[in-house]
Parts: sequence; structure tokens; C-alpha cells
Amino acid sequence: MDKTRSRRLIAGNWKMNGLRAEGLALARAIRAGAAGVPADLLVCPPATLLGTVGAAIGGSTIALGGQDCHAAGPGAHTGDIAAAMLADLGCRYVIVGHSERRADHGESDAMVQAKAAAGLAAGLIAIVCLGETEAERDRGEALAVVARQLAGSLPVKASAANTVVAYEPVWAIGTGRTPSSADILAVHGHLRRELAGRFSDAAGFRLLYGGSVKPGNAREILALPDVDGALVGGASLKAEDFLAIARFSAP
Ligand code: PGA
Repeated sequence: MDKTRSRRLIAGNWKMNGLRAEGLALARAIRAGAAGVPADLLVCPPATLLGTVGAAIGGSTIALGGQDCHAAGPGAHTGDIAAAMLADLGCRYVIVGHSERRADHGESDAMVQAKAAAGLAAGLIAIVCLGETEAERDRGEALAVVARQLAGSLPVKASAANTVVAYEPVWAIGTGRTPSSADILAVHGHLRRELAGRFSDAAGFRLLYGGSVKPGNAREILALPDVDGALVGGASLKAEDFLAIARFSAP
């Protein structure tokens, strides 16, 4: 879709990695190299490191995000974290519906939608993840699957300003394999058309690609017309790789 390209978002999903010293060193190294990077940077450390990392990037342009939140407000949910708690720690974003959570914790589209809504209610920008499995792709169902996940996972109040969509094919996460540029474009184009059927500001939604993004493939992926950024897992744990990916985001 022809649209004015927004500044791209390069988000690091640290997953369940990092003790305090490592997280602090990584945050400091990213901060030290972030000046002049032509993209918006976001780091999503594990919840245990949000305070430490938040302090290390405080006052910089690097944003902080959580990797998940509960759908409910503060209350009796042992081990969970309310979106308001993330906001209170300085988070601006929350990832919801990552395929690892969908798989490990049985999160359905409806649960992801409720979590995203909770994030928005707390003033956070929700990064809603979706993507097909390898079997679904092999059966030719990738577009139908992501459309169904999009319809079921985006909250009613979603808008381009408060919601980001991350396309992460499950088979590409942590595997070193990525879809072809044509396949990424086909999915992003499909997602954009689906958004257009529901939201008047569909052209402004940021659509991220995620799954084995590395410095070696970031230039090609980030040059694709409907890719507004990347959600980076493994490569976000090395500051130089994360920053190298972000440097390929020149408009
Ligand atoms: P990866 O993870 O970059 O290690 O493939 C991406 C993600 O799961 O967000």
C-alpha cells in the first residue's frame, strides 16, 4: 500500500534472558551506540530487569517495554503483572500474544485481545504478535491464519497510535530461517488490507516483521515497502547486532 513511511521501530525482545549485570551492560551498550540511529528503538527485557534497564536508558530516546501483561487490573493473580505496573515502571509498550506465550501458556486470540486492551487502558502501546506455523504455511493457510489472528487479537480501541502488529511466522523464530521477501510482502499486504477493512487509519499502523532478523538480512527485510520495523529476539541480546539492524532502517 502506498503510504507515507513512518520512522521504523526496532524492538528487542530479550525473552527470558539476562541477570542484572548482563541486562545492565546490554542496556548501557545499546544506549552508548544509539545516537544517530535512524529508527525508534525499544527494549523489552524480562520483568525482573525492567527497573534496572529503565534506569540505564532513562533520559534517552530508547523506549522500554514489557513482554506480557495480565488482562485484568491489579488484584489476586499470583505471579502475573498488571499493565499499570509496567506503565508505572516507565514502560511505553507491551508485547502481547507472542507465539511462545500462545504455545507455552495456551493464550488464545481472545486472551491476547484482552491483554492488549488492558495495555491500552494503562496508556501503553500494544505490540500484538501473530504468525502461522510451518504446517499452516505448508497447507497454504498462512494468509487465512494471520487474518483470523488479527481479527481476534486486536482490541476494539486499537488505532495506529496505540497498536503495533508484529508478523512472526512461528517457524522462523529462533531458527535462522526467514520467509522470502515476497512472502513477507504478501503477508504484510494482506494484514494491511484487513486493517483497512476495520480501521480508518490502517495505513498508519506499524507492521513489524519478526523471526531470525539479523544484521545479515535486516537490510533486505527493512527495505520492503510494507515493513515498518522489526521485532528482534536472539540478535537483540548483542548490542552491536541490535544497533546494526537499526542502522539499516534509514528512510
Ligand atoms: P528471533 O526471535 O529473532 O530470535 O527469531 C524473534 C521473536 O521471537 O520475537
